[in-house]
Amino acid sequence: MANTPDEQVVRTQLHGKVLLVTVDNPPVNALGAAVRRGLQDAMERAETDAAVAAVLIVGAGKSFIAGADIREFGLPPQPPLLTDVCKRIEASRKPVVAAIHGAALGGGLEVAIAAHYRIAVANAKLGLPEVLLGLLPGAGGTQRAPRLVGAAAALDIMLTGRHVGAADALKLGLIDRLARSDDTLAEGLAYAQELLAAHAGPRRSRDAAGLADVEASRAAIAAARAEQGKKAKNLFSPHRIVDAVEAALDKPFDEALKYERELFMQCLASPQRAGLIHAFFAERDVVKVPEAAAAEPRALARIGVVGGGTMGAGIAVSALDAGLPVVMVERDAASIARGQANVEKVYDGLVAKGRMTPEAKAKVMARFSGSTDYAAFAEVDMVIEAVFEDIEVKKAVFQELDRVCKPGAVLATNTSYLDIDAIAASISRPQDVIGLHFFSPANIMKLLEIVVPAKVSADVVATAFALAKKLRKVPVRAGVCDGFIGNRILAVYRQAADHLMEDGASPYAIDAAVRNFGYPMGPFQVSDLAGGDIGWATRKRKAATRDPKARYVQVADRICERGWFGQKTGRGWYQYPQGARTGVEDPEVLAIVDAERQRAGITPRQFTEEEIMRRYMAAMVNEGAKVVAEGIALRPLDVDVTFLYGYGFPRFRGGPMAYADQVGLPKILDDIQTFAKEDPLFWQPAPLLVQLVAEGRNFASLNKS
Ligand code: 3HC
Ligand code: NAI
Repeated sequence: MANTPDEQVVRTQLHGKVLLVTVDNPPVNALGAAVRRGLQDAMERAETDAAVAAVLIVGAGKSFIAGADIREFGLPPQPPLLTDVCKRIEASRKPVVAAIHGAALGGGLEVAIAAHYRIAVANAKLGLPEVLLGLLPGAGGTQRAPRLVGAAAALDIMLTGRHVGAADALKLGLIDRLARSDDTLAEGLAYAQELLAAHAGPRRSRDAAGLADVEASRAAIAAARAEQGKKAKNLFSPHRIVDAVEAALDKPFDEALKYERELFMQCLASPQRAGLIHAFFAERDVVKVPEAAAAEPRALARIGVVGGGTMGAGIAVSALDAGLPVVMVERDAASIARGQANVEKVYDGLVAKGRMTPEAKAKVMARFSGSTDYAAFAEVDMVIEAVFEDIEVKKAVFQELDRVCKPGAVLATNTSYLDIDAIAASISRPQDVIGLHFFSPANIMKLLEIVVPAKVSADVVATAFALAKKLRKVPVRAGVCDGFIGNRILAVYRQAADHLMEDGASPYAIDAAVRNFGYPMGPFQVSDLAGGDIGWATRKRKAATRDPKARYVQVADRICERGWFGQKTGRGWYQYPQGARTGVEDPEVLAIVDAERQRAGITPRQFTEEEIMRRYMAAMVNEGAKVVAEGIALRPLDVDVTFLYGYGFPRFRGGPMAYADQVGLPKILDDIQTFAKEDPLFWQPAPLLVQLVAEGRNFASLNKS
């Protein structure tokens, strides 16, 4: 039989008696329909060609196989199904070996465990991460993995979606052999030939004994079910994974495979799958911005930070963690000592928890230096300013930076709200000025808004995206406005929450509704965590420019006037007895709310959770549409990623704009128009939303560039 042509996504070639099957479908060898057909044809050839005694499956390029082709989900399924391809591989009468390098994930690992023997090179990462996409392993993974590694380990792998390294995979029994070299092909061929020489026949995972201890398996299933009941109560697929593993104990293999397929189809049809897959692609698309495509980033070897407070210290830690040397400048000796102590405190915490050795801490801190003299910035490639949120203070700092920094140094500000165009205009090199809006705690939070002022040059924007990659942040490109993408939208839905409260919903009912929607915390809990004084200061700053006709709820001011700033003062919207971190409801707060309602002449009414969320989300989506229309966000997906990574938006809903698409834009617009009858100033429908509804389009149609 002739060898198949090279351009095919699955190639076969005889090496002695071993049929080498190479999956070559860049970038990650995803199992699209052509690959599935190719694998099926390869198995056909293996069975019918008498010259073939064994089969070796490998992946070309960087990976073995990274799983099903995620882009196919949601489209009509095309034969052959992967589960049938895997069955066919397992059923082969000739031994099948998988030689794994790079990613063997999801359907990729399912192919590998349908094979009879597995060898992996040291860099291999194995896993069943379907749960992260709202799915379950749907090609036999829920049945074969527990038989290979036991119910407890298989459930852990499937419910966390974690990547298992090659050495661990060997210990677990997920692979049979760790390769001695990185030459996957040579190692795989040698293994296959060795098996042939030893007359080792097929060895099927379906017959493996990992579930033999039925009692232990049932205990593992019960434990997983209990844990998911607490941890994943809003999610669909984790519970189906546990059900599928239980079926491995209760049903014959082929029947259980059918059941797995049924559950897989249920997951596939769920809105959570759509939301999670939107999030997967959105966080990859978010870096695709015009400046990053047009320009090369500048060098980025040394970082300067101005200010060693909450944000400056967190930013310094983030850069140190990425291996960058950091110079910090503060206004005086006491402040720089405090700034350095803020940085050290983070590492001391890790040392105390045993997550870092004192030697490793010393090594990191050796890259850090502090100064009160701006001249220390002479050699840095980028300075990130994190001083007080005051435009005059910031302008003065930028004058200093303009004076001391080398030509081409990137000058960034971490301002939350201030006009970066104005900061840029105040110095001689506006083309080097950009906003880098980190979120608190800056060394933990993933989101980085990259705020692009009018005069900045493209390579500075590209450098900011390169920095984000180095720091392992998720960058979102934002335009200059009050609050950029995130805080601007937050301000609006936070007001909607205040209106709801004054109209009759208690802050506790609102928090509960928001949590039940999938957020880790409600808005009033967040305010208590961040400190009510921060929002209070902003409100006071904006009081002069507030539209006197706009509705303004004063409850938060009444709370702050009492010095109740949240957790740090032991009391805010909730009470925190003896430093407790979870608050308890406070009848005095409810009395304040009541008094404010009376003062405003409002008769409270009832709101169901659904009504609360309709208003909360309509406010978020409406402002999101305005932010997109104004070009503050490039696309709706940039709004989604901002909220997923900076504001705790439930990932399974994809982000506010993806959620709006799921609900249907006509319904959201209809809600806004209904609410506008009570308060037309607050509920002004975004023209973009009106236009999309008129054209029968959704936000997703704007994501396609
Ligand atoms: N299907 C389609 N495209 C995929 C893909 C997949 N499974 N995995 C990655 N890609 C695409 C990415 O979208 C990206 O495309 P782009 O360049 O156009 O943006 C490109 O491949 C490279 O991906 P990354 O940027 O993520 O590259 P990395 O090198 O950082 O990471 C990876 C590689 C670890 C393989 C990572 O891409 C990954 O985790 N992929 C998803 C793996 C996964 O979830 N597999 C399970 C799928 S579900 C399944 O198999 C169901 C089965 O049980 C039936
Ligand atoms: P902070 O008050 O904790 O720290 C500010 C630091 O700047 C102080 O240590 C102060 O000594 C120093 N400083 C002031 N003037 C200086 C000068 N002229 N030269 C050198 N150092 C000077 O404030 P925080 O919270 O760290 O905020 C800093 C900036 O980050 C602000 O612009 C704020 O809006 C922004 N931001 C804050 C977030 C937060 O959650 N705290 C989140 C995102 C951005």
